[in-house]
Amino acid sequence: TERSLVLVKPDGYARGLTGEVLRRIEAKGYRLAALKVVSADTDMLHRHYAEHEGKPFFEPLVAFMSSGPVCAAVVEGDRCIEGFRTLAGSTDPTGAAPGSIRGDLGRDWGKKVQKNIVHGSDSPESAEREIGIWFPEL
Ligand code: GTP
Ligand code: MG
Repeated sequence: TERSLVLVKPDGYARGLTGEVLRRIEAKGYRLAALKVVSADTDMLHRHYAEHEGKPFFEPLVAFMSSGPVCAAVVEGDRCIEGFRTLAGSTDPTGAAPGSIRGDLGRDWGKKVQKNIVHGSDSPESAEREIGIWFPEL
C-alpha cells in the first residue's frame, strides 16, 4: 500500500469544497488515514514547497497558502499517489479535464497564484517528506 499527503487548499476550504474532495477520495476507494484542519505558518510552507524556492510564483504561493485554513489528509491505498493526481486533474484548472476536481470545480480567478483547490504528493519520497511536515505526530 502507499500513502499520499493531500491538502484542500485555502480556496477550496473557503468555498466549502472539503467534503466534496474527501467524498471523491473515498468514492475512489482510498482510505482517510488521518485528517485535520490547519492554519499553516510560512515556515511549514517553505519546507512543503522547497522544490519551488526561487521561482517567481513561490512567495505568492506561500502567501496564498497561509491566507486561511487548509484541510490536510493522509490518504492510503495502492497507487493512491498517481490515483489522487488523476482525480485532481492538471495544475491549471482552466485546462483540467472535466471529471477531475480541478476540471469540475476550478477556474482561473486572476492574480498571480493558481488557486487550484487541492495539492497531492507527486512521489512516495515527497509523500513521506510532506506527511512529516503536516503530521509530525504520526
Ligand atoms: P500541487 O499538487 O499543489 O503541488 O500542484 P502540482 O503538483 O500540480 O503543481 P506544482 O507542484 O508544479 O506547483 C505547486 C503549485 O504552485 C501549483 O498547484 C500552483 O498553485 C502553483 N504553480 C505551479 N506552477 C505555477 C506557475 O507556472 N505559475 C503560477 N502562478 N503558479 C504556479
Ligand atoms: Mg506539486
